[in-house]
Amino acid sequence: MRERVDRLRKKMEQKGIEALLVTKPENRAYLSGFDGSAGVLVITPTAAWLVTDFRYVEQATQQAPHLEVVRQGPQLSASLKELVDKGRLKTLAFEKDHLTYSLFDNLKETLGIELLPQEGLVEGLRMVKDSGELEAIRKAAAMADRAFGRILSLLRPGISEREVALEFEYQMRKVGADGNAFDTIVASGPRSSLPHGHPTQRLLQEGDFVTLDFGAKVQGYCSDCTRTVAIGRVDAEMKAIYDLVLRAQREALAAVRPGKKGKEVDEIARNIIAAAGHGDHFGHGLGHGVGRAVHEGPRLSIAGEDGLEPGMVVTVEPGVYLPGRGGVRIEDLVVVTADGGEVLSGISKELMVL
Ligand code: GLY
Ligand code: MN
Ligand code: MN
Repeated sequence: MRERVDRLRKKMEQKGIEALLVTKPENRAYLSGFDGSAGVLVITPTAAWLVTDFRYVEQATQQAPHLEVVRQGPQLSASLKELVDKGRLKTLAFEKDHLTYSLFDNLKETLGIELLPQEGLVEGLRMVKDSGELEAIRKAAAMADRAFGRILSLLRPGISEREVALEFEYQMRKVGADGNAFDTIVASGPRSSLPHGHPTQRLLQEGDFVTLDFGAKVQGYCSDCTRTVAIGRVDAEMKAIYDLVLRAQREALAAVRPGKKGKEVDEIARNIIAAAGHGDHFGHGLGHGVGRAVHEGPRLSIAGEDGLEPGMVVTVEPGVYLPGRGGVRIEDLVVVTADGGEVLSGISKELMVL
């Protein structure tokens, strides 16, 4: 953790940043190890303060021995003012995509120094995972796989999407996950054309395609996986869509390696799907980084300018969605290795007809 703070300091120095206020919870947890629900960091070249309230002082002291824990008074801004004075700071950079306008206003008035908007500083560090982070993500992926195996027998006509999601989440907890990485998606029949279909009371029926998108959270880290299965039987049109998405997914996966830009990997899947006449039915990016947040850098999309590096963890998840008819998405989690990619999701991608 100390090393992460040092790497941040180096980046701050390169950018001429005197002090950084870290408010985004994932960034704070990444730099501090402190996973309570409230707290901010102030990092300078010589000081690293973790400001939190009475509820968390003991926990923060244990989880972040490399930081100086400061007990927050009734007003966060007043506590920060004390640190600004102590550090003789003239400016304070803040995370512009997270700080609320009201806190900004409050700080502006209380601190009386220049506040400088910054973005992506800690997120840039978080993109490449270390061995401990990879281990947590591996565990999360393995637990989600096990939970999937445990709910397969429930996927029969007559069970509701909501029950499937509930059982899934229960099983993830049962096999050891701390929780879900995000709300489980279960979208069946015509609803499978909704890329992020929230589970409803709809009952699964023979002939449905069912999209299940699920992830576990372990030690603060997420997994992310999607499988689409068929109930009872599958018609030729949907089977063709499945085969198309699977081919695009496999080709894109095979292209994951250091040096490739996110947009280049995206393009491989997108071209295959477009050549089959379904370009308009694949309207989201191919994938995204996964770590403390289920969606983080790098992006695998037409806007993905970042080059892949060993230690990055990304999803590859093309989909084809036919409104009113149904859809297919297949998503794997991949670690970028020295010479390619290692898929963490262990669940078969052959179409399961249950
Ligand atoms: N589970 C959300 C996603 O796949 O991006
Ligand atoms: Mn997903
Ligand atoms: Mn995803």
